[in-house]
Amino acid sequence: MTAPRHFLDLDRFDRNTLRSILDTAVEFKREGDHGQSRKLLDGRTLAMIFEKPSTRTRVSFEVAMWQLGGHAIILSDSDSQLIRGESMADTGRVLSRYVDAIMIRTTHASKLAELADYSTIPVINGLTDESHPCQLMADIMTYEEVRGSIVDRKVAWCGDSNNVSRSWVHAAVRFGFRLRLASPEALRTSEDHDRQWIAAENGDVVYTEDPEEAVADADLVVTDTWVSMGDDPGESRHNILAPYRVTKALMAKAKGDAVFMHCLPAHRGQEVTADVIDGPQSIVWDEAENRLHAQKGILAWCLR
Ligand code: CP
Ligand code: NVA
Repeated sequence: MTAPRHFLDLDRFDRNTLRSILDTAVEFKREGDHGQSRKLLDGRTLAMIFEKPSTRTRVSFEVAMWQLGGHAIILSDSDSQLIRGESMADTGRVLSRYVDAIMIRTTHASKLAELADYSTIPVINGLTDESHPCQLMADIMTYEEVRGSIVDRKVAWCGDSNNVSRSWVHAAVRFGFRLRLASPEALRTSEDHDRQWIAAENGDVVYTEDPEEAVADADLVVTDTWVSMGDDPGESRHNILAPYRVTKALMAKAKGDAVFMHCLPAHRGQEVTADVIDGPQSIVWDEAENRLHAQKGILAWCLR
């Protein structure tokens, strides 16, 4: 039996494979909802397990399956036996007998790994505490749609160091752009492994505590919530992160034609001001839309 095509993290892929998934995504978007792809996943079923809330990931995957001719089943936290302690291993073995692929949003990356190890069908990472690779596929697609190739561009992350920023690190190395990550040292999760990997892969990624240094001359400025799902929301967290808020003044340090992105959901007045996220440099709604197209590319790759 051939190994299933899991989509777990961007660092596990080579550049050409990621590029081909994006090319497919762009093609799906161009074709719209009425082309050849209508029957691509005819009769195929995706099970979606959510151990954390979701709006975009849930709806975009379900619509993607439907538009490609397939079907999706949602298992929310309270629906499955996972909540009563059934293991990821057993869940993967059982679902592999019913459906064609599994998308999971969970807490620890080890749960995703266990599910993938025991499933004989593709498993897609729909976010863990450690990463959010589907988001990054949509993000790269979106940047390139509005500004052309991201290769050698400068991207600045300002805010918490979290699952999304970690996938930005993977994307920087795999897609070949420069990344400056500004976040408070006190909130950084262990990044030693990432630093070693970046060096081994000759990536151009710099961690800093200075948001202005990160944003200087950037082509793209990105942020995310200060309180990720599962984080302890404390006043001190907000105080530590306040200097990293993306404001008009901070955006003014980037290139004149720089764009702003945020995976959403956003908290106006916290990680970003309303005049930035709702302003002319923001491309967050295209970014959200592209989750649909990028995930069609991922599904097509996994289920080919
Ligand atoms: N960006 C993102 O993954 O959004 P949801 O949590 O709504 O899925
Ligand atoms: N970092 C955020 C991303 C939400 C899509 C979280 O994990 O809550």
